Amino acid sequence: MTVESEVRIASIPRGLTAIGAGSAPFEPVFAATELAQGEMRRVTFGDLDLLVANTSIGMVAIDDRCPHMSAPLSLGELDGCLVACPLHSGQFDLSTGNPTRMPTTGGLDADGNYHPVWAPEGREPKPDPPGVKAEARRLTRVRRVRYYPLRIRDGLLEVAVPRG
Ligand code: FES
Repeated sequence: MTVESEVRIASIPRGLTAIGAGSAPFEPVFAATELAQGEMRRVTFGDLDLLVANTSIGMVAIDDRCPHMSAPLSLGELDGCLVACPLHSGQFDLSTGNPTRMPTTGGLDADGNYHPVWAPEGREPKPDPPGVKAEARRLTRVRRVRYYPLRIRDGLLEVAVPRG
């Protein structure tokens, strides 16, 4: 069995390839079999931090920055295709790029719909003290995840890295 048939690369959801990554040169990451299913790891190229995750639908590479307020998702938890952010508990489905749980701070989803600050089941959300910080939370948009193409060559996983 070849490495290529052992390790699956997930397809990138339509329209969610990171800017410049579609035509970028590939760089080696690590041995394609190094990351077990359910594991994820940060890899860095210059000032670009990427998260490589071996999800239940295959390997993906995305920015290692939460689409909410940029926390490193590599410190979060991966469960199947779902990655949870360590900072405000936002959760993203890596098979679609969509947020599946809004951050506890609330804000705008990818389509621009407003979500309030998190509250326990059956309770009203605590009112945000008015001011510029509340406004910043309210207007922070949680984008969809952006992806970087992956491939396997000579047993190595490679990722497309846009040049500065
Ligand atoms: S930074 Fe990830 S949920 Fe806020």
